[in-house]
Amino acid sequence: MTIAKKLPFVIIIASLLVTGITVFAVYMMQSATLHDSLLEKTKSTADQYISVRHIIAMNQDAINTDSMGNFEFKALNPARVGNMVAQNFNLKSHMVIKQTSLKVRNKEMGQPDEFEKEWLKKFEDEKSMEPISEETILNGEPVFRYMVPIEIKKPCLSCHGEPAGEIDISGYPKEGYKEGEIRGAISVIAPMKADLSNLNRHMLIVGAAGLFLALILIVILHVFFRSMVTSPIAALMDKADKISMGEVSEPIEVMREDEIGALAQSFERMRISLKKSLELIEKD
Ligand code: HEC
Repeated sequence: MTIAKKLPFVIIIASLLVTGITVFAVYMMQSATLHDSLLEKTKSTADQYISVRHIIAMNQDAINTDSMGNFEFKALNPARVGNMVAQNFNLKSHMVIKQTSLKVRNKEMGQPDEFEKEWLKKFEDEKSMEPISEETILNGEPVFRYMVPIEIKKPCLSCHGEPAGEIDISGYPKEGYKEGEIRGAISVIAPMKADLSNLNRHMLIVGAAGLFLALILIVILHVFFRSMVTSPIAALMDKADKISMGEVSEPIEVMREDEIGALAQSFERMRISLKKSLELIEKD
C-alpha cells in the first residue's frame, strides 16, 4: 500500500479517536449541567411549596377564628392547602408535586409509589432530614426526582399524634406519630425526555462536526501530500530510471529546500559523477 493510501486510514483512526473522546467529554459535561439545572428547578419548586405550607401553618389561628372570635375549624390546614396547591400546579406544569407518606390520609393524592416508599423507609431508618435527588425511570419515561422529608413537630401532634385511631379535629383518625418522627415527604417529579433528546441531538451534531472535519482534513492532506511528496518522488524516480539507462546529460532541477530538494540534489550529484566517469571511460 502506498503512503498516499495509508494516510487517510491514519487520519480516519485519529479523527474517530478525537471525535469519540470529544463527544464523551461534552456528553459528561452537558449531562452534569442538565442534572444541576433539574436539581435547581425541582428544589426551588419544593422550596416554594414548603413556603406556602409554612405560611398556612403560621396563620391557622386567623383562619380558624370567626368574626366573633370563636374557634371554627375551616379545614385549611397546611397539608390540605398543600394538596389544593399541588392539584392546581400539576394541571399547569409539566412537573408533578405531591405530599406523600407511608401512613397516607389523602389516598387519592398522596399514595406513595415504589420509589417514594423506598425513600420514605430510608428517611425513617436513617432518621435523615436530608433531601434526595435521583435520575430514574417512571412509567417507562426518564424522570428527575427530588424528595424532602417532613418531620413531626409539636403542633402536628394534635392531629397526627397519639392515641392512634382517635378522630382528630379534621375528621381523620390520628396516626400515633411521636415528635421527631418522619411524617412523610414532599416529592417533585420533572420529566427528562425532552432534555435528553436535546442532549442526544447536541451529541449527534458534535459527532457529525468531528467526522466532517476529518473528511476535510483527509482531502486537504491528500492534495498537499500529492503535490509535495508523491508527484515529486515519481518525477525523481523517472529521472533515476533514465540515468540507469545511461541518459546522464539532462540535469535534475533542484527547486526546493526541503527533504525532497535534498534528495534531488543527491541525484544531481550522482548524475554529475556518473557523467564524469562515463566521459573518462569514453576517452580511454
Ligand atoms: C388540624 C389538623 C392537622 C394538623 C395540626 C396537621 N395536619 Fe397534617 N394533615 C391533616 C389532614 C386533614 C391531612 C389530609 C389532607 C387532605 O385530605 O388533603 C393531613 C395530611 C398531611 C400530610 C400529607 C400526607 C397524607 O397523609 O395525606 C402531611 C405530609 C402532613 N399532614 C404533615 C403534617 C405536619 C408535618 C404537621 C405539623 C407541622 C401537620 N401535618 C399538622 C391535618 C393536620
